[in-house]
Amino acid sequence: SPAAPGLLGYSTNGLVGRNAFEFVHPDDLERVKGLMGQMLQDSHARVSGIFRFQHKNGSWRWIEGTGTNLLGEPSVRAIVLNYRDITDRRQAEEQIQRRAEELLAVNALGRALAESLELSEIYARLYQAILGLLPDSSTVFVSLFDRARELLVCAYGVQDGEQLNVDELPPIPLEPPGVGSQSEAIHTRRPFIVNDLQARLRRVKVNVTVGHSGPFPQSGLYVPMLAKGEVIGVVMVQCPTLSRYSQSDADLLSVVANTAAVAIENARLFDDAERRLRQTQALNNIDRAISGSTDLRFTLKTVLDEVTSQLQVDAGDILLLNPHTHTLEYGAGRGFHTQALQHTRLRLGESYAGRAALERRFVSVPDLRQRTTDLLRSPYFASEAFIAYYGVPLSAKGQVVGVLEIFHRAPLSPDREWLDFLEALAGQAALAIDNATLFEGLERSNVELALAYDATIEGWSRALDLRDKETEGHTQRVTNLTVRLARALGLSQAELVHIRRGALLHDIGKMGVPDGILLKAGALTDQEWAVMRRHPVYAYEMLSPITYLRPALDIPYCHHEKWDGTGYPRGLKGDQIPLAALIFAVVDVWDALRSDRPYRAAWPEEKVREHIRQQSGTHFDPKVVDKFLQMELR
Ligand code: C2E
Ligand code: SIN
Ligand code: SIN
Ligand code: FE
Ligand code: FE
Repeated sequence: SPAAPGLLGYSTNGLVGRNAFEFVHPDDLERVKGLMGQMLQDSHARVSGIFRFQHKNGSWRWIEGTGTNLLGEPSVRAIVLNYRDITDRRQAEEQIQRRAEELLAVNALGRALAESLELSEIYARLYQAILGLLPDSSTVFVSLFDRARELLVCAYGVQDGEQLNVDELPPIPLEPPGVGSQSEAIHTRRPFIVNDLQARLRRVKVNVTVGHSGPFPQSGLYVPMLAKGEVIGVVMVQCPTLSRYSQSDADLLSVVANTAAVAIENARLFDDAERRLRQTQALNNIDRAISGSTDLRFTLKTVLDEVTSQLQVDAGDILLLNPHTHTLEYGAGRGFHTQALQHTRLRLGESYAGRAALERRFVSVPDLRQRTTDLLRSPYFASEAFIAYYGVPLSAKGQVVGVLEIFHRAPLSPDREWLDFLEALAGQAALAIDNATLFEGLERSNVELALAYDATIEGWSRALDLRDKETEGHTQRVTNLTVRLARALGLSQAELVHIRRGALLHDIGKMGVPDGILLKAGALTDQEWAVMRRHPVYAYEMLSPITYLRPALDIPYCHHEKWDGTGYPRGLKGDQIPLAALIFAVVDVWDALRSDRPYRAAWPEEKVREHIRQQSGTHFDPKVVDKFLQMELR
């Protein structure tokens, strides 16, 4: 047919006499022969099929062929084949099919990634998606770009089917434009395609991080990962075929890379938020330890627990500055195998910690093994096998109070955030130390003050005895006896302190009673009694403004109340009367009656016992009387 040359590239003559099957694609040949056989069985049979036919220029054309058996037609006696070139349509269909599959894959990746906040899972899914789209990839690398340090840090890598341990791959410094392919993708923010990697490697000197166990890659595709307009890294794929990657591969991988970039960014934000939360909780724990405990060792232990767990270091200790000797002394430690550092005593300026304290700065030693002369604090120290060291001065209100030391049995390469958190922990430790020192000081001055007060009270009580013409030591005697009786009745040590002070001051209100009444030799008139009975109220008025003595007021205010409610000043009855006063009343009457008074002579002991027994349940609380009468009174 004159149409044949256009379709197949051959002139009509070029085809005449040729075996038609020669031109059919080997994969389609069996099928085409089958169709031909079918057609030849019947005259007038008509078959059709689609197959690939090789054009004279070597390319394969998709042909829709229809054959009709006209061998039975006497006028024709031939088979007639109609060919229609459907290559373009076929390719368009395939393209659409492929696009649809790719879109589905990208969509699936997007959905899968949206569910994950786990970085390792994100990388694994990204890798699976890349393999789905570019199954012949022999290298897939995901590197994150550390903008602050201008480093490419490999986060995930598979090469020749092996997943690499990325922690072992050193970061690659960002290269200037026109050198490394990954750097190129970062600079231009666009995909970078390399058609002949070997040729390129001969031309430019780049960092090639990992050797290949499979065939050397020939093509490479490097796509920036963009999230919120920032390049956060690069996805690199390579394969062993030359000129493998097209612009549409680059576009597709970009969509995948950007989808992953958003997920990675989210996961990192989530990680950051989580770490911050943990750090806040750590600082909170320390705060609670500081305010909840007056035990400095305990608080420092808490600080060190958080230091080692949050900063992920093997060991730490806190040295306290002794302000008298100007030495740093071991305060607390955690994570040590030996007691190497527990006997530490360093002068300021001596060793790393001494220098940190003296110069008030961080001291960092990346590798202690190379500095054997500096840290010979103990012969055991070497067996701890520490490598990295940090010494952080602890200062509170401008004063150095100690040093926080950190030890790690592997190298440390801390980032800004780690250092910031270390500083925060050091601040807390300093605060704890400062607080504890303050507390110790406060406690000491409280004790001193309490001693001073009690001496004052005893002085007053002696002055009162003198004025009252009480027998020598009346107040001391009733005080001691009252404390003994109260203890026998089971009162606590803390209550006894106040009972003692109350007893010493029980008749302080008599300071408001004139000598004429107080020292009168005979019985009191009603008017004089009215004044005398005010002495407990005077005591209340004198003592209640003194916070320190308020818990001691029960005895001065209530020691003349009576069990049956006939006492004064308020006429309280039974359990309304504070126990301290009920106890004291028995002792006071006992001692008053055993003593001479301006208005009568002392009673003999048996008479006093009888009087007290008789007043049980009227003047006195019966259970106090019972206990009192059991006591040894001399
Ligand atoms: P005080 O001398 O220290 O007596 C304390 C309490 O011991 C008295 O509280 C009373 O319950 C008991 N008491 C003392 N002496 C006697 C006594 O001779 N017989 C009896 N049954 N109980 C006695 P009271 O009675 O409320 O007195 C309070 C204070 O009033 C006394 O303290 C004393 O300073 C004064 N006072 C009491 N009676 C007289 C009195 O007749 N003449 C004078 N000048 N003062 C008196
Ligand atoms: C290149 O720069 O083309 C090869 C090195 C690389 O894979 O980045
Ligand atoms: C690179 O990270 O650019 C090198 C990739 C490779 O090892 O082929
Ligand atoms: Fe009294
Ligand atoms: Fe008295």
